[in-house]
Amino acid sequence: MTSPRRPAARRRTAVLRREAVLATVPVAVAALLGAAGPTAAGTPGAAGAGDPYFPLSGNGGYHVRHYDLTLRYDTASRHLDGRAVLTARATQRLSRFDLDLKGLKVTGVTVDRAAAGFTRNGQELVVTPRHALREGQEFRVAVTYNGTPKPVTDPDGSADGWIRTDDGAFVAGEPQGAMTWFPANGHPSDTSSYDFTITVPKGRTAVANGVLAGQHTAHGRTTFRWHQAEPMAAYLATATVGTFRVERYTTPDGVQVVNAVDAREARAAAPVLRQLPSVLAWESKLFGPYPFRAAGSIVDHAPDVGYALETQSRPVYDSAPDLSTLVHENAHQWFGDSVALTAWRDIWLNEGFATYAEWLYSEQHGGRSAQKTFDALYDRPASDNLWAFPPGDPGSGRNIFGTPVYDRGAMTLHELRRTVGDRAFFRILRAWATEHRGRHGTSAQFVRLAERESGKDLEGLFHTWLYAHGKPDRA
Ligand code: TRP
Ligand code: ZN
Repeated sequence: MTSPRRPAARRRTAVLRREAVLATVPVAVAALLGAAGPTAAGTPGAAGAGDPYFPLSGNGGYHVRHYDLTLRYDTASRHLDGRAVLTARATQRLSRFDLDLKGLKVTGVTVDRAAAGFTRNGQELVVTPRHALREGQEFRVAVTYNGTPKPVTDPDGSADGWIRTDDGAFVAGEPQGAMTWFPANGHPSDTSSYDFTITVPKGRTAVANGVLAGQHTAHGRTTFRWHQAEPMAAYLATATVGTFRVERYTTPDGVQVVNAVDAREARAAAPVLRQLPSVLAWESKLFGPYPFRAAGSIVDHAPDVGYALETQSRPVYDSAPDLSTLVHENAHQWFGDSVALTAWRDIWLNEGFATYAEWLYSEQHGGRSAQKTFDALYDRPASDNLWAFPPGDPGSGRNIFGTPVYDRGAMTLHELRRTVGDRAFFRILRAWATEHRGRHGTSAQFVRLAERESGKDLEGLFHTWLYAHGKPDRA
């Protein structure tokens, strides 16, 4: 029952790659350079959003309101042609600013239609507009680029971003892979709406986030248009390409469902995908109304990937998911997607909650109770990996998908439930999803909300389960 979707990724967790360690050295230097040199023309935007786990992810000095991505992918040559138009607002006077983009060749950048200067510095695309941007100014930056996208290797050794498959690409950007296929403000503290226009060879399907806004075939190519209206973090964007069977329907609540399934996974996926409407209805009953106007699944055949991702409105699976994985990825639509992270350190707000949703699903559908799942985990000896670090403070980007984040994160919620009782507990889950819907949340805000809803002092509980090192004593 606990996290069966990540065995491959977890195995890789133990492997700390040498280049990942070395990569952290220039980071501090780049951050200093980014912060240096205010002039009359304004200050350069910082090279990162200030997240110590991924110091270069995201950028300072602006917020992206909307991404308009036009992509053409040739599945035979693996070549990607892209044009990204970002509508953004400066949050300081800006002499220049960065976008995250790794690899790929940039052929032109404009700011408000005027050619802008640009240079590349590692994963930073540094843009110098002809005129400094005023604080509060809305501006449009257009980037034309092309090349063969390559995934990025994360500190835990897993690959994310644009990952080629035998018939297209599996596209999943958590935590930092968005920059492998579009120029992004790639930190979850910045969320935006998106339009995608993706052209692929006829016979292939390109599936992105949100509602399908159009599709047409001409000259041996098909163009798909997708629209993601609700704010989305860059890592949750997808443009997965493959040979898919596509199923579309609308739920009684008016949510547009699109399931795209690789034929090789179709038989195994069918009985699970059939449950999607009832899973979403059950989660809506528990967590509040489904937060998006689109839903669905992308079931790819990508045996080397080793994980699924809760891509917004439509999770992407590397193979046919089992039911608890379907429950997990769709629970993320409330916890992680609609309510976004402000820092990667708080990742338990995503993974602990989605894992606890699995436990609850089992309990309410004739399976093991959450208490039994908790007890089985608690039985593990103090030396077990489960207690290797506290879920509320994983310590580095290398640990964000570790067992403590998922399982001890869920145990934290179970202890909260035992302490405040079912009525208050379910009120807390719902209030969290509702009050932060389409916005952000932090661990501290969650603790405060739980205290408010329960009328209890919960500092000790959260200290013990979220932040204390080692196996907690039984209360
Ligand atoms: N967030 C994903 C899930 O829990 C897991 C995941 C995404 C992941 N990217 C990863 C796990 C990279 C390991 C490595 O469903
Ligand atoms: Zn998850």
